[in-house]
Amino acid sequence: MLSQEEMKRAAGEYAAQLIKPGFVTGIGTGSTVYYFIHALAGRVKEGLDIKATVTSKQSATLAQELGIIITDLNNIDNIDITVDGADEVDNKLQLIKGGGGALLQEKMVAAASHRLVIIADDKKVVNRLGKFPLPVEVIPYGWKQTRKHIAGLNCTKIVLREKESIPFITDHGHYILDCHFEEIEDPRQLSIQLNSIPGVVENGLFINMASEIIIGKPDGSIHTISK
Ligand code: A5P
Repeated sequence: MLSQEEMKRAAGEYAAQLIKPGFVTGIGTGSTVYYFIHALAGRVKEGLDIKATVTSKQSATLAQELGIIITDLNNIDNIDITVDGADEVDNKLQLIKGGGGALLQEKMVAAASHRLVIIADDKKVVNRLGKFPLPVEVIPYGWKQTRKHIAGLNCTKIVLREKESIPFITDHGHYILDCHFEEIEDPRQLSIQLNSIPGVVENGLFINMASEIIIGKPDGSIHTISK
């Protein structure tokens, strides 16, 4: 039986094989994508020619350390494929993302991508989204007002994310509110409602964005959920 870490690794290495020569490739963020970046960098060292863009400073640092050249999103028209992780996935390919705090840039890169491949271990698969607190990126100014509006959407608990006892700051200078909904009945509607609140920059629901989900299973196999 594979450990959770080994399942992440299996999914990440599998996804690296999907990258073809010449692909404009989006690189996600997180501990599963870590394995993807390593495997992709190995292929780049062997001569795979790609153009890459990233979803966070963290991934940019790792990719560059391993020899992958990063291009700014403004210098890219379309992304052929993006490989990213998720905190929860359902069998309709809807996602909760943002556990690592990179959801804004992740969603922008996903929206520019022809194909969004999600890699995960099988503990991330759920029947209904919401057990994982939904990350919502907000502007620090007046964030308590923003929190009040979010609380009005049947949210049971809202936690300002902290790092070392001070508010966690995203790559784009914002706060993250981790919003406990327990079960999200209508993810699409909730996403629209959240993004209509003044002060909300973006939320971690990725609706109809993923093309396929690659899941590392405990028995070492790979399971794919696709449209
Ligand atoms: C980063 O903000 C997130 O969206 C990650 O993609 C997500 O949290 C998955 O991360 P892990 O692979 O570390 O679980």
